[in-house]
Amino acid sequence: MDRIRIVGGQKLAGSIPISGAKNATLPLMIAGLLTQDTLILENVPRLADVVLLQRILGNLGVDIMIAGKRAGADPNSGRTIHVSAKNIVDTNASYDLVSQMRASFWVVAPLLARMGEAKVSMPGGCAIGTRPVDLLIMALQDLGAEIEIDGGYVIARTKNGLRGGKIVFPTVTVGGTHTAVMAATLARGTTEIENAAREPEVGDLADCLNKMGAKISGAGTSRIVIEGVDKLNGTRHSVLPDRIETGTYAMAVAMTGGDVLLQNARPELLQSALDVIASTGASVTATNEGIRIARNGGQIAPVEVTTQPFPGFPTDLQAQLMALTSRANGTSHITETIFENRFMHVQELARLGARIKLDGETATIEGVPRLRGAPVMATDLRASVSLVIAALAAEGETTVNRVYHLDRGFERLEAKLAACGAQIERLSA
Ligand code: EPU
Repeated sequence: MDRIRIVGGQKLAGSIPISGAKNATLPLMIAGLLTQDTLILENVPRLADVVLLQRILGNLGVDIMIAGKRAGADPNSGRTIHVSAKNIVDTNASYDLVSQMRASFWVVAPLLARMGEAKVSMPGGCAIGTRPVDLLIMALQDLGAEIEIDGGYVIARTKNGLRGGKIVFPTVTVGGTHTAVMAATLARGTTEIENAAREPEVGDLADCLNKMGAKISGAGTSRIVIEGVDKLNGTRHSVLPDRIETGTYAMAVAMTGGDVLLQNARPELLQSALDVIASTGASVTATNEGIRIARNGGQIAPVEVTTQPFPGFPTDLQAQLMALTSRANGTSHITETIFENRFMHVQELARLGARIKLDGETATIEGVPRLRGAPVMATDLRASVSLVIAALAAEGETTVNRVYHLDRGFERLEAKLAACGAQIERLSA
């Protein structure tokens, strides 16, 4: 297994191109199942999760073609993929694949809407919490699906197709909202979703589906209304920039000091996180090209932050913020309200010298003047990258093990950081 070796202490300076968002790409690829025509997605990041989803969709009969680079094209631009679900040959998704990537469970919605049946493995728990799918099942039932659970599989059927209905989510769920939106596009009649997730990735999915001929209004608010249509067509859509990658590099600069332009980043996708970063003492400036983050000298101020659904502070930046505040001049409190077990990074940050105490869902972080490098490992994507950030600001050498977690969600991480002066390299196994 590959490792990443970092020698900390360098300020970051330069520019980092922000990739297309992983969490928008996945539902967009899955939405390709809703049409017989070809869906062309641009700005797709090169990530292990995209490759895995490609395999899962391939098993269902979806043809995915990845366009090569044109001469003269920007080497940092994302890829263009053609998703063609002309013939769906299978409506089953097995445990060995779905358990590797939870988002692949969402194929249940388009399969059911288009084929009238789907048998998809329940994903199981994961390193950040139990993560049930009861609300996704509820949404499909509200649209008239008959659901049975057998042998760890969700078996969903409709006799005469899905019909519009009212879905009221008791908690905000991104995957539940994606599922409900995809299923409702091809249902007969009108669907109303109350307490819908307002995450930008839901808006990106709805924009793409509307270009495909769907009639969705209100995406980005907590009430989404969908008029079902008979069929959808292909289109061309560019994936929105990754707000979590943006926030991650912004926090890296806020921690090491320096001056970096995050190219193509869009402030409105992560305003609450940018406000928190600014409150730690970094300067955050929106420019025509993206977001510029700088910190030159000065201490890191402590923060009080609670994770919330969008537009609140995202859970996917919680671990990175904990790394940043571990070097603050004072005590910070971070409360995690989305996932009950998303604190696996605490013990690893402690190996670098961080002082963090956990009490239920709240972490108390007593800032220390310096961190020192050490071997560390992590159990999920965002936790791993929090260790990278901390290592960049630590004295001496850190090796981060289990790099495959990083490869799931950060495109060319070492290259992007090295281009800004970080001493970081991948050690191949
Ligand atoms: N929940 C239920 N029942 C359900 C579904 C969700 O109780 O049927 C609960 C969850 O257990 C959690 C809360 O609702 O406590 C929110 O979960 P949500 O459904 O919103 O999460 P998700 O759709 O499974 C997506 C992202 C996650 C991100 C969360 C929250 C993708 C592929 N995944 O997950 O991203 O943390 O939304 O914003 O979009 C990551 O990228 O590292 C990652 C984990």
